[in-house]
Amino acid sequence: MKLLAIETSCDETGIAVLEQNGEEITVLANALASQVDIHKETGGVVPNVAAREHAKALPPLLKKVMTEANVTSLEIDAVAVTIGPGLEPALFQGVNLAKELAAKWRKPLLTINHLAGHVYSALLTPSEDLKQWSAAGSAFPALALIVSGGHTLLVKVNGHLQYKVLGSTLDDAAGEAFDKVARLLGLPYPGGPALSQLAAKGDPTKFSFPRPMKNSGDLNFSFSGLKTAVLYKLRDLKGVRNSRGSGTLSSEFLTPSLTADIAASFQAAVVDSLLTKVKRAAHETKPHTMLLAGGVAANTVLRVALQTLADKEKIPLRIAPLALCGDNAVMIGLVGLFMFAAGQTASIDKVEPQAGLKLC
Ligand code: KG4
Ligand code: ZN
Repeated sequence: MKLLAIETSCDETGIAVLEQNGEEITVLANALASQVDIHKETGGVVPNVAAREHAKALPPLLKKVMTEANVTSLEIDAVAVTIGPGLEPALFQGVNLAKELAAKWRKPLLTINHLAGHVYSALLTPSEDLKQWSAAGSAFPALALIVSGGHTLLVKVNGHLQYKVLGSTLDDAAGEAFDKVARLLGLPYPGGPALSQLAAKGDPTKFSFPRPMKNSGDLNFSFSGLKTAVLYKLRDLKGVRNSRGSGTLSSEFLTPSLTADIAASFQAAVVDSLLTKVKRAAHETKPHTMLLAGGVAANTVLRVALQTLADKEKIPLRIAPLALCGDNAVMIGLVGLFMFAAGQTASIDKVEPQAGLKLC
């Protein structure tokens, strides 16, 4: 069984070819074209610009993976594509190509939920070079924390392709909060990596930022208040500065050490908020394993903190490999293989992008 997978939900164009033999999966080719440098100029992703870049990147990437995987279209058994959630114009590019290929090659089309992709990047076990993946060993029920630029979710995974969302963010996603606070601190897009690098040099106890919803009694999250708290803290500091008659808040005023302390204290608040709910969910659902995936799963402080919690709770933790925390087509292909095995194929003419698609 060989499968072509396409991902274009946001600002990464990904195409991969995967092969499955029983419980063993081989990544025959994996290509990714990042648009980060383009979106840096606007400080965020402009959907139509993302779509234009996907349209440019897809044809050469397709050629590249087919050559690298050393397969012809005749050898591909199915085409998998992310249909949502994501930016509609961006999704549209991948979905269109997938529909076109599935029709031309007369192969089944598999429509993949992007969030399921993130789940599978942590659920299955990769070899060190990320070329081989194994589905051996029961992980279910698993408790997954999916943290990305667009989503913050706690999901119970009862079996393959069986998801139950236990909680999610009521406003900003964790990654979005990182991006917005990074912007307040004058850091470049995408803010997460830049902010966490800076935070490594700061004191996480210097400022006490709120842990919104910590005691809400449910498994939901909220990060927009935290972002506002950082904004107010910056204003307070500016006020002190102003009362001394030293002018307005600027990057000049924000000394590198103060900025690092704010970054570290903000990051600590995000990680603490996430962990509080993971712990609560773990006690409620008694999972066999815990999973961590999504762009923010690249954050070292979060990875270490969740590992510490998992060790304490004696629950094995599987974290998505660093290279696959961000969006990619391998994770879409992994889900695709399981959907193919389950006979969950789609009717080509009915497939449309679904920007607001839910996991369940
Ligand atoms: O999963 P992803 O690539 O795209 C979405 O599906 O949203 O996640 C991107 C998000 C961005 O908000 C980015 O700032 C954040 O992941 N991110 C990080 C780190 N690396 C990426 N956030 C915190 N720490 C990081 N090291
Ligand atoms: Zn994602």
